[in-house]
Amino acid sequence: MGRIDGTRAVVTGAASGIGASMARLFVDEGATVVLSDIDDDRGRALATDLGTAARYAHVDVTVEGALESALELSASEFGGLDVVCNNPGNPGTTGSILEADMDSVDRTIAIHLRGVFLGIRAAARAMVSNGSGSIINTGSVAGIQANYAGHD
Ligand SMILES: NC(=O)c1ccc[n+]([C@@H]2O[C@H](COP(=O)([O-])OP(=O)(O)OC[C@H]3O[C@@H](n4cnc5c(N)ncnc54)[C@H](O)[C@@H]3O)[C@@H](O)[C@H]2O)c1
Repeated sequence: MGRIDGTRAVVTGAASGIGASMARLFVDEGATVVLSDIDDDRGRALATDLGTAARYAHVDVTVEGALESALELSASEFGGLDVVCNNPGNPGTTGSILEADMDSVDRTIAIHLRGVFLGIRAAARAMVSNGSGSIINTGSVAGIQANYAGHD
């Protein structure tokens, strides 16, 4: 028996790193998981490896309305939605700030701020009609102290 038997989760940024570990732990503890990412090859491979309790959906979290397909997949395949983990990240803009490329800065802000906001909103919309749910956002010490990652 797992610690979260029957829980239905969606994890974004689940193809790699912390998101992949979360997805694996959730399944090990009895949950179902819709993994989502923009790295479809790695995401699909991990979902296949995790077996019948996992599915994969392509989601770019910076795109408004994209996450909804993963939330709907959890409902159609696993009967509902209890947990959404907003987790994607990129290394940010490194090197000298004097030469910082603003396309790179905009991309970082889009993933770490806009993407998390869209994820919270989409999850809340789905969970309000359920009457319950958990939204988990991965943070970083880099958000509160300089020099741990890119400037942005
Ligand atoms: N690794 C660390 O030491 C550390 C420490 C503290 C916080 N974090 C945070 O944890 C989170 C995950 O980091 P990680 O180390 O596992 O990184 P990672 O690079 O291993 O994984 C990030 C995943 O996010 C995906 N991704 C990137 N942009 C995306 C987008 N627009 N839409 C959907 N998916 C996207 C990538 O394809 C990748 O699979 C990040 O938010 C990071 O800031 C990491």
